[in-house]
Amino acid sequence: MGIHVLEHPLAHETMARLRDRNTPCDDFRVLAYRISLLLTAEATRDLPAIGGTVETPFEAATVRRLAARGVAIPVLRAGVGMLGAFLDLVPSAQVGYFGLERDEATAVARCYYEKVPPDLSDAFVFLLDPMLATGGSAAMAAEGLTERGARRVRFLAIVAAPEGLARLAEAVPDAEIFTAAIDRGLDERKYILPGLGDFGDRLYCT
Ligand code: PRP
Ligand code: URA
Repeated sequence: MGIHVLEHPLAHETMARLRDRNTPCDDFRVLAYRISLLLTAEATRDLPAIGGTVETPFEAATVRRLAARGVAIPVLRAGVGMLGAFLDLVPSAQVGYFGLERDEATAVARCYYEKVPPDLSDAFVFLLDPMLATGGSAAMAAEGLTERGARRVRFLAIVAAPEGLARLAEAVPDAEIFTAAIDRGLDERKYILPGLGDFGDRLYCT
């Protein structure tokens, strides 16, 4: 599995503010957008492009245009906080959704909704879920993607725990994961430490 960790001063500054318990939810949303832009740029760095020309006001310029089918799949609900940034950078992307929720007592994910394009075999698929904790949600989503023939899957997580990375590597050995931080571990409720708390609650002020 390829693990890519954002190393950029702007990412570090954004993460510092996202982690801060005193950051209110309106700022949290903006910061989530900002870090998602940086993750998206990194995760799309090697997408195929084709050459062409356009006319500038002065003369013809050689250009490169994106030549890939991108599909963004946010995991409800927290992953929706990453979607706007992704689409701002990749406006041609298709969008699908997985609704996954961890049981509060067991931390085991269950799927309550899915609406994903049926054939993903020729697509670059970007799974958007800010927190990779036990990896149960990501592994479940990966199963759904494999059923639809996805071959090129990239996981974008704002924070990842070592336990989640290990679980994902087992479930999808050739996965590529892009994250802004690999944290120390999980607490007894399977929240990431130090982490940034419950992402969905902080994003939606709940
Ligand atoms: C969070 C998060 C991930 C999941 C990660 O969602 O957004 O989907 O937990 O945990 P895991 O790696 O242990 O599976 P949650 O279930 O809290 O739902 P929410 O997005 O609706 O708040
Ligand atoms: N989901 C969250 O929102 N935060 C965690 O730390 C783990 C799962």
